[in-house]
Amino acid sequence: MNLRNCLAGLAVTTLLGGLSSLHAQPTLAIHADKPGVAISPTMHGIFFEDINYGADGGLYAELVQNRSFEHRENLYAWSKDSRGGEGEMKVETDDPLNAANKHYLRLDVKSAGRGFGAANSGFGGIAVVKDDDYLFSVHARCDEAFKGSLLASLEDEKGQPIGQCRLEGLSGKWGRFTGTIKAGQTVEKAHLAVLATASGRVDLDMVSLFPRKTWKNRPNGLRADLAKMLADLKPGFMRFPGGCIVEGMDLANMYRWKDTIGDVAQRPQNWNRWMITMKNALAPQYYQTYGLGFYEYFQLCEDIGATPLPILNCGMTCQFYPKDCKLIPLDQLGPFVQDALDLVEFANGPADSAWGARRAAMGHPEPFNLKYIGIGNEQWHQEYFDRYEVFYKAIKAKYPDIVLITTAGPGVDDEKWKFAWNKFKTVPADIVDEHYYRPPQWFYDQIGRYERYDRKGPKVFAGEYAAHASNRHSTLACALAEAAFLTSLVKNADVVVMSSYAPLFAKVGNTQWQPDLIWFDNTRVCGTPSYYAHQLFGVHKGDVVLTMDMKGQDEKAKRNAQIHAVATYDKAAGEIIIKAVNPTPQAMGVTIELQGAGEVASQGRAIVLTADSAEAENTLDKPTNVSPKESVLAGVSKSFRYALPANSLTVLRIKAAVGK
Ligand code: AHR
Repeated sequence: MNLRNCLAGLAVTTLLGGLSSLHAQPTLAIHADKPGVAISPTMHGIFFEDINYGADGGLYAELVQNRSFEHRENLYAWSKDSRGGEGEMKVETDDPLNAANKHYLRLDVKSAGRGFGAANSGFGGIAVVKDDDYLFSVHARCDEAFKGSLLASLEDEKGQPIGQCRLEGLSGKWGRFTGTIKAGQTVEKAHLAVLATASGRVDLDMVSLFPRKTWKNRPNGLRADLAKMLADLKPGFMRFPGGCIVEGMDLANMYRWKDTIGDVAQRPQNWNRWMITMKNALAPQYYQTYGLGFYEYFQLCEDIGATPLPILNCGMTCQFYPKDCKLIPLDQLGPFVQDALDLVEFANGPADSAWGARRAAMGHPEPFNLKYIGIGNEQWHQEYFDRYEVFYKAIKAKYPDIVLITTAGPGVDDEKWKFAWNKFKTVPADIVDEHYYRPPQWFYDQIGRYERYDRKGPKVFAGEYAAHASNRHSTLACALAEAAFLTSLVKNADVVVMSSYAPLFAKVGNTQWQPDLIWFDNTRVCGTPSYYAHQLFGVHKGDVVLTMDMKGQDEKAKRNAQIHAVATYDKAAGEIIIKAVNPTPQAMGVTIELQGAGEVASQGRAIVLTADSAEAENTLDKPTNVSPKESVLAGVSKSFRYALPANSLTVLRIKAAVGK
């Protein structure tokens, strides 16, 4: 058994002296009597964007794809289901359900046979679990000739029913009909048939099927397993709804939050810009139903204890792609600025205010406690600053306590970024959003980055980053590069107040962008090694940085990659937290000194993220191949030795009194 396997097998982690021959042992000298900068509660958060089928077909638990027939290919995911009957199925627009929802399905049934209607194949199949309830709903009407009912039937791949519900009482007026279907079997790729049982004309719209078991059992809710993955990160904030999706590709494609609230049947569907952004990953049927809209985002934030961070369109489409950015002229920016002001009222206003009442009507009379708003995403140059300043003045005039996030563009070392930071010398900025998708080595090279930032300048939001290996795989090596960099963000918590990996979700077979933090299909979910690294930072954050000197690193190790560590203190737990990354292929012995600490417990906890190889990954079949393992940390004192496994991120938690 090699040394690393031997370490991984220990239930009790203790201190090893035998490693000194491998390397000169560095000392992590932690000045427990010198608590340093406070760490913002928002330091580690999440970035949500509807990319890679993150929302529709992903987190949003709707099982019917193209439920309102608003895709450009109006019958996408639908097929005629005759069952010995005869008739026609087509999409109509006369006298629609409402102005936002213009298309509906018309069944002209000549003879119903065993039921005549339409079947929906979901998002690559509808996954159902035996004995679980599924909530069916539809908006429907019929002509006078129709004397039958509707049958909603969940069926397996062979067309065998696995659960049904019947809906009676259709009339000439649009009405909403609901029923519950209990699944008699577990089926991965079921489909849903909606059948008319008699001849006549029947119109259908907003055909919907949700599992009853959503996250927190909310109606119009979220996939519980995916939402739990977010909650388990213990995110300090959640940024939504993006990303480039905020900007859109043309004026109609811009994300406007008011389109995304209220009755889901009244929310106009938009196309998803990621359907055509990546030439090598086109997704022509990728749409945004907005069923997961701003109310649901705020609700999710509340449920997972994350501060909401909405990003708003600033009157510009994407500058990155396509290149011909469309600008809202400055004298027409009013409605966009009003959107921002109304958003604050929607989130925080009393239930009897105009927008607060809209929130209350959706079921949340209490405020959502919005504190942050982002103005634009990855925008740059003067055209951005012209618009940003208008937003800034208007929002601060009415809501001086709202903290505004501005952007430094898509890079962190280019001319756009320099232009932005030059601007911040004169243009007011609370927090600046910086993005970096770079090779793993870049993250090591940039560890000193924020030490060079002006302490009196704006704060920084490391708003989108990920270590990109050349094959775009999410390996342990990538996670360790990000973790090493995160130690530097925490050490610079007086400048960096927020950080989030991006993108968050990826659905297998439906990706436009890799790597991503969490992968899923219709039934399974898996965190990447980066997910677990970020989880360790989120869960074991601490409130204050403890000053630390690192002494005596072996020269050879220094030339290659070395230990990267940060110490913090968790006041409520009364624990010193040390996070240390050893990206080298050898275990590394370190001496840990808790200088100036009061009484120190002799036992603590060690939580280690490692694997046999730096190239190790997680898959849906082996989701926890690379995942943290916890053991008892024995033999702790004010100076003790510990072996950091090869290719590892280690968290040590030690009860100790600190400070003066
Ligand atoms: O995270 C994917 C994309 O990367 C985001 O939408 C955009 O902000 C950035 O360019």
